[in-house]
Formats: sequence, structure tokens, C-alpha cells
Amino acid sequence: MRRNKISIIGAGNVGATAAHWAASKELGDIALLDVAEGVPQGKGLDLLEAAPIEGFNCRITGTNSYKDTADSDVVIITAGLARKPGMSRDDLLLKNAEIIKEVSKQVAKYSPEAFIIMVSNPLDAMAHVAMKTTGFPKNRIIGMAGVLDAARFRTFVAMELNVSVEDVHAIVLGGHGDTMVPVARFCNVSGIPLTTLLSKKKIDAIVERTRNAGAEIVNLLKTGSAYYSPASSAVQMAEAILKDKKRVIPCAAYLDGEYGINGLFIGVPVKLGAGGIEEIFELELTPHEMEELKKSAKAVKGIMSVLKM
Ligand code: NAI
Ligand code: 2OP
Repeated sequence: MRRNKISIIGAGNVGATAAHWAASKELGDIALLDVAEGVPQGKGLDLLEAAPIEGFNCRITGTNSYKDTADSDVVIITAGLARKPGMSRDDLLLKNAEIIKEVSKQVAKYSPEAFIIMVSNPLDAMAHVAMKTTGFPKNRIIGMAGVLDAARFRTFVAMELNVSVEDVHAIVLGGHGDTMVPVARFCNVSGIPLTTLLSKKKIDAIVERTRNAGAEIVNLLKTGSAYYSPASSAVQMAEAILKDKKRVIPCAAYLDGEYGINGLFIGVPVKLGAGGIEEIFELELTPHEMEELKKSAKAVKGIMSVLKM
């Protein structure tokens, strides 16, 4: 019997941490690829040497060659550049789009049946670049943002109420940026609506903190962005696909008219299983929530217009 195979492109903070979570969950054999020579090999070998202690069984290959990623079931893309001094947001966008095009071509060549989980930023636009470049159907390109943004929302609610994070459920819609839409009305603690547990003022503060949660970590770290929770989110999505879990979680999906949005990747609740995105759930939103979602879609459209795709 063949083991599942997961390739992780980009062996930086998110990529290497995703390899760690995926190995500890024994999701399958792992290929960790980066352009930096020695880095994926070193991190891969180091992680493999933890296997006898942690007791996980999987092959971990650190590599600079896409040949080692061949026939992957799931590919998690975390390759990208961080913004450097003198570089505008648009410069970064164009550079990362070039990287994602190159990576996507190789993924399509070596793993034509794979599901792609996009992590690189700007997230919604990079998922779009991967879809256009690979020509993969929309169910096989899934952007990682909603799982992370909802996990942050859940964490802040659990902290405020002093309850287990496991009992807090939340959904965040929209693009992965300042305009994301954490929908308080759909947040509950074991079925108890959040709106009955906290004042509007407290909920508004949590929503605002969720929107700025990525920046909060950047401000603390100073030299990089979050990676434990983003990596964990990407691996949860990979697990849902590889084990056909049919999880209902928010992911960036290509919308074809759902929510009145056409031709854009946007965060919405989806069913994630062996078929990738098997269903998109259209929630009944209030006019205000819908207006916020449309505002977020407009922001993603603005980014896409720079890419002219
Ligand atoms: P990092 O800088 O630690 O790692 C990026 C890696 O990509 C580096 O090792 C670099 O050598 C590699 N790389 C660059 N060009 C490449 C290419 N052409 N092929 C293969 N590898 C290449 O960055 P980190 O923290 O791991 O973040 C990675 C990306 O994920 C960034 O774009 C970041 O903004 C994004 N991100 C997205 C999140 C989300 O919620 N969607 C959350 C956290 C990070
Ligand atoms: C985050 O939300 C930087 O997108 C990244 O942490």
C-alpha cells in the first residue's frame, strides 16, 4: 500500500513548522523543498532525527529538486519573500506572484493530481495565481486563511470567557487582510451564541483584535510573521483532505457566483474532504455582514487588478 505524500514548498518558518505538525500526525511521507541550498535538507534531517524520540514513522526528504516532490497528494505552498526596505506592497505582490507562478508550474508538472493548499501572501491573490498557472480545477486549489483567522477569534473568545478553546466555534469570511469579516453572529460556545455571553463592546474589541492578529505577532517578533498557528492551520486542511474528513471550515475558495461574487478567491465556509472543496456553504448574511464581505472582495479585486490576471 502506498503512503500519502505531502510536499511543502518553502522551508522557512511556516513550511518547516508545517512539516513538523504533519510528521507528528503521521499524515504521510514529506518532501520539504526550498531554493536555499542545504536548508530543506538540514531541517528535514533534523526533523527525521526526532522520529525515534517522538515515535512517528514517515520519510522526510529535504530537497532543492521538484523531482523529489513527484506524485504528491497534497502540496502546501509557503514559498515567498518578505517585504524589504524600499519595496512597496505592489513590488512585493509582483515578486511573490512570480515565485508562485514558477512553483505552480513545477507542481503541475510533477504532481498533476495534487491538491494545493496556498499559504503565501497576499493569500487570496496567490491562490488565484496558482489556479491560473496550473489550470487545476477550483476544488483543488484551497487558500489557508479562514482556519487561522477563526482560530485567532476562538482563542480571544476563550481567553475572555475563560472557557476551553475546543468549545468555541467561529467563522471568518472574506479576504485575508484588514477587511476580513469575523462574523460574531455565527460564533458560539458549545451552541450558546456569543452575542448572549459578551457585550457588544467586548465582541467588537475581539473582532478588531482578530483583524489585526497577524500584525500583532509581526510587531512582537519584529523580524517575521506568525508560523505555529499558520502551519497548524495548513496541516489541519491537509488532514481533512487526506483522511476525507469532510470538515466544515472556512477556506479561501474560488467563487463562481456564490455570495454574488464572481471570479475571485475569498474566504467562505467549505466542506473539505477527499475531493478537496466538495461544497461551498452560502450563509444567510444580514445586509451589514454582506456589505462587509463585498468590501473585502473589493480589496482582493484591487490586488488582482495590479496582477492584471
Ligand atoms: P520565510 O521567509 O520564513 O520562508 C519563506 C521561504 O520561501 C524561504 O525559506 C525562502 O527561501 C523560500 N522561497 C523563496 N522563493 C522560493 C522559491 N522560488 N521556491 C521555493 N522556495 C522559495 O516566511 P514564512 O514566515 O514561512 O512565510 C511564508 C509565506 O506565508 C509568506 O508569504 C507569508 O506572508 C505567508 N503567510 C501566510 C499566512 C496566511 O494566513 N495565509 C500566515 C503566515 C504566513
Ligand atoms: C498572518 O496572518 C502574516 O498572513 C500572516 O499572520
